[in-house]
Amino acid sequence: MEKARQRWGTRLGVILAVAGSAVGLGNFLRFPVQAAKNGGGAFMIPYLVALVLIGIPLVWAEWTAGRFGGGFGHTSAPGIFQSMWKKSRFIKYLGIFGIFGPFLIYMYYVYIESWCLAYAYYSLTGQLASITSGGGFIEFLSGYQGITETGVFSGTLPGFVFFLITFLLNMSVTYFGIKGGIEKLCNIALPLLFFFGIVLAVRVITLFAPDPLHPDWSSINGLGFLWNPDFSALKSAKVWLAAAGQIFFTLSVGMGVILTYSSYLRKNDDVALSGLAAASTNEFAEVIIGGSLVIPAAFIFFGPEEIITVAESGAFNLGFVTMPQIFNQIPVGALFGFLWFFMLFLAGITSSISIAQPSVAFLEDELKIKRQSAVKIFGVVAFLLCQPAIWFMHRGVLGDLDFWGANFIIVLGATIEIILLAWIFGIDKAWHELHQGADLRVPRVFRFIIKYITPTCLLTILIWWLISDWWDTITMKEVASVDVPYILGTRLLLLALLGVLAIMVRVAWHRRKLTNAAEEAES
Ligand code: ALA
Repeated sequence: MEKARQRWGTRLGVILAVAGSAVGLGNFLRFPVQAAKNGGGAFMIPYLVALVLIGIPLVWAEWTAGRFGGGFGHTSAPGIFQSMWKKSRFIKYLGIFGIFGPFLIYMYYVYIESWCLAYAYYSLTGQLASITSGGGFIEFLSGYQGITETGVFSGTLPGFVFFLITFLLNMSVTYFGIKGGIEKLCNIALPLLFFFGIVLAVRVITLFAPDPLHPDWSSINGLGFLWNPDFSALKSAKVWLAAAGQIFFTLSVGMGVILTYSSYLRKNDDVALSGLAAASTNEFAEVIIGGSLVIPAAFIFFGPEEIITVAESGAFNLGFVTMPQIFNQIPVGALFGFLWFFMLFLAGITSSISIAQPSVAFLEDELKIKRQSAVKIFGVVAFLLCQPAIWFMHRGVLGDLDFWGANFIIVLGATIEIILLAWIFGIDKAWHELHQGADLRVPRVFRFIIKYITPTCLLTILIWWLISDWWDTITMKEVASVDVPYILGTRLLLLALLGVLAIMVRVAWHRRKLTNAAEEAES
């Protein structure tokens, strides 16, 4: 007898869980860095275009495909893809990217999430308040990460302890499942993080320019840095790629996560309005709250040029160096510092539990392993595979994982799923599925966009990358020779992981065939 499927408890619960997956470190750390590096107002036009032409269509595509595959008892990309193209023998193998991609992101994401917890703690204990200069904060961050010029290992004991706490918290939520763990956490964490975010944004917007020499360094001009459109950058391919990449990462599309989450829906549960609601919640968190925090705050204290320099100097410097420096200069800064880092931690954990779920769902529903055992297996493997990013971060391992996970695999995954949905499953069936039980009629123009525009944009991005960067990336042309063994080791590990996943898919389908044959023989 089939065991009872896991399901969401309420409609609000699933929307908050998907929004929780989307609202993450990407919204508050990655977004301001990308926006600043790509010229503020110059970045926002491609960003909004990519949101409408790629992001939202993919959101609808994934919610639709996930619920459809869930109807056949599948909860991860291999099975969901197979249910959409029943005759194919290979499509389930392409679905591996919907497990591999999020797992790869998990391998470094939880570690970064743990820094937020640590910094929230250091804000409360006054350790951050005792640092007096920007240089001091840079030293503190690299000291915490254990990064030195010469050391063989990065990583430190406090860093490892905070990682362990964060990892165990993640595992306990995953252990309690969809309704008892993920939904419960998101019901509390999302409203809380929005509350913290709004308090922080109001504080930043009401700050006055502290530097009499630069009265124009105001919060309003900081917002202008982000929002005054600059059409000249529309010609830059780099800005378009950065904007599209940010849309993928922030909406958690192309990762297999939404596929898995929506597979726990029932056949007539709405996906059109729910998908849009979750995506809008994410965009509110990113452009309204996220856009009113780091950039205006850094603008007020350091001015427009310095923001760009800091953003270019390191992916985490705006969040972990500039922000605490600012908190040290305002009244009750320790409390605001705590709110900032704890908000980041909440945003992080509601995302990391989502990127763990495709792997757990695969073990549970395709390999038929009991949920608690599936979580334990995932926990041991994930714990081990998170170690390279911690101990070899200074060798570029974390950066390389981020490149493959956040830039390449999700674009590849998104391309596969949109072509599968719009062209093989067929746009007519897909459109019908999207509107099954829907509380919203999606404007018809999106039918055209999903069929033609989104796949064209995605293929263009992939081909562009293949032409311009593929060879240099594979041959590690820009990797320092001392780092080459570490990066090579990481890539071989990833290839091995891909191989293991392919074997597991094969085993799962072979077993299913045997079970089906036995059931047929019985009846
Ligand atoms: N969507 C998640 C984030 O923005 C992964 O961090």
